[in-house]
Amino acid sequence: MRLRYEVTRKFAPYVGVELSNTYRGTADFARAAGERTRDARLAADVPHSSLVHGVVEAGRERAIARRIGDITPPRDLADPERVRRGAGNYAAMCADCHLTPGVANAEIRLGLHPTPPDLTLTRAAVAGQSAETAAARQFWIIKHGIKASGMPAGSKAGMDDASFWI
Ligand code: HEC
Repeated sequence: MRLRYEVTRKFAPYVGVELSNTYRGTADFARAAGERTRDARLAADVPHSSLVHGVVEAGRERAIARRIGDITPPRDLADPERVRRGAGNYAAMCADCHLTPGVANAEIRLGLHPTPPDLTLTRAAVAGQSAETAAARQFWIIKHGIKASGMPAGSKAGMDDASFWI
């Protein structure tokens, strides 16, 4: 099976010129960059194959599902004061990776793999999940983070549980 990627790299902010190339295949990408193909497994500038991506995602969701059973979202998630506080925290701590309405991308986001999801989009992260389970899942992710992905654990930032319901 041959996996195909279209990867556009923009280095402009870092080296002052814009390099924009399209490579086909992870190994080709690494070879074209003059690197050993084995490096492609670890480097964040080379995406996972769709097979690896699928396996990692499925494992992550299974692990999270096992841990969120006893988390009950507060009933007042839409409370204006809660939303106002959440928006402030989001702007300060999350927007660089997860974007804000009308912003197409951000420098730090371009360099991360997996790419932080655009949280301004309303989408079901896990098909068929109830709104309550989806909220509990988000709470868990925001509190504990996701290892080796760039998603930080809010619990290590000195925040209390109430701050994670945003
Ligand atoms: C340094 C970048 C970075 C910052 C800062 C960051 N995140 Fe993330 N976040 C990520 C990445 C990367 C993922 C995807 C992890 C994966 O796919 O395994 C993620 C995933 C998530 C998810 C799961 C999305 C989904 O539906 O699958 C939520 C929710 C989330 N982040 C919320 C937040 C919140 C809220 C903040 C701020 C308090 C925040 N993140 C700060 C990088 C970041």
